[in-house]
Amino acid sequence: MNTLKFRVIDKIAETKESFSFVLKPLDGVLAEHSPGKYLPIKIRTEKGLLFRSYSLSSSASANEDFKITVKRERGGRGSNWLCDNVKVGDFIETLPPAGSFHPQNWDRDFVFFAGGSGITPVISIIKTALNRHKNRIKLFYANSSESSIIFHKELKDLCLQFPDRLDIQFWLDDEKGIPTSIAFEQYIDDALEVEYFLCGPAPFMGGVENFLIESKVPPGLITKESFAGSVSDDNGDTVESSAEKDVTVNFMLNGIKNSVMCSEDDFILNEIIKAGINVPSSCCAGNCGSCMCLLVSGDVILESNTVLDASDEEDGWILACRSKPRSKNIEISFDQ
Ligand code: FES
Repeated sequence: MNTLKFRVIDKIAETKESFSFVLKPLDGVLAEHSPGKYLPIKIRTEKGLLFRSYSLSSSASANEDFKITVKRERGGRGSNWLCDNVKVGDFIETLPPAGSFHPQNWDRDFVFFAGGSGITPVISIIKTALNRHKNRIKLFYANSSESSIIFHKELKDLCLQFPDRLDIQFWLDDEKGIPTSIAFEQYIDDALEVEYFLCGPAPFMGGVENFLIESKVPPGLITKESFAGSVSDDNGDTVESSAEKDVTVNFMLNGIKNSVMCSEDDFILNEIIKAGINVPSSCCAGNCGSCMCLLVSGDVILESNTVLDASDEEDGWILACRSKPRSKNIEISFDQ
């Protein structure tokens, strides 16, 4: 597995539930510091190996070091382990930066809809646009309460620094309730060609996306970043198999045994997600390692990926998002 190494040079408490980790690549490590990219982090806990992806919240345009921001997820093994254990001076191993959440055209105006920790890639793009380009930017940023706003001061400072170009609305659920389409109306401007960006919890993103589509925003102008999703083929289209689902996949996740039925054409992760089970995943394309798990018994075919090498496969590691069954009974574990 080809990994990059970084040293943690600062740990910043952003809110009660989230920390930023400022990272310096070790000598000789060349890593792409681009807005909207995420770092797939290799986390070695006492209970085993995990991969979790965290977006860069830093911008090279502001001469910042690499920075990721991690919000504790309830029951999240990776996020809680990082927040509890990683300290200044530690080393972090990652796969190369990945992701495609970035503008198509930096000359267009941008509208961002962010919820909670969805602000992390968004602030990186905003800083890059403000420092390197001339466009205008609007941000709708929803949080449950004021104390959960990540980068509150930094965002307010950017508004003061760029008053004619940056406009932010901080939406607090505990004051106004969950935002509905009425809250989004002011962000539609038919006269301008604007790019829209969505990043946050799935229900929030779904609500905003429905609103944009109903408002006749062309889908090509909408870019989304979700931290879990369905499995796609290489063209980005969701693959739905019609083959018989006669394979039983038993899997261990967070100490609980579960099972789904698959066909030999199905990617295993896709079937687990479709069953409504919240399994670690991010890119769904074999690039981030989030869905790495151990094949305990049975056979799978592992399609192309950029994470595992031959020795990982010999040790039994597979990626659920790129694995299709090749025996009728399969047992895997996400708890290794
Ligand atoms: S979800 Fe990224 S490698 Fe499987």
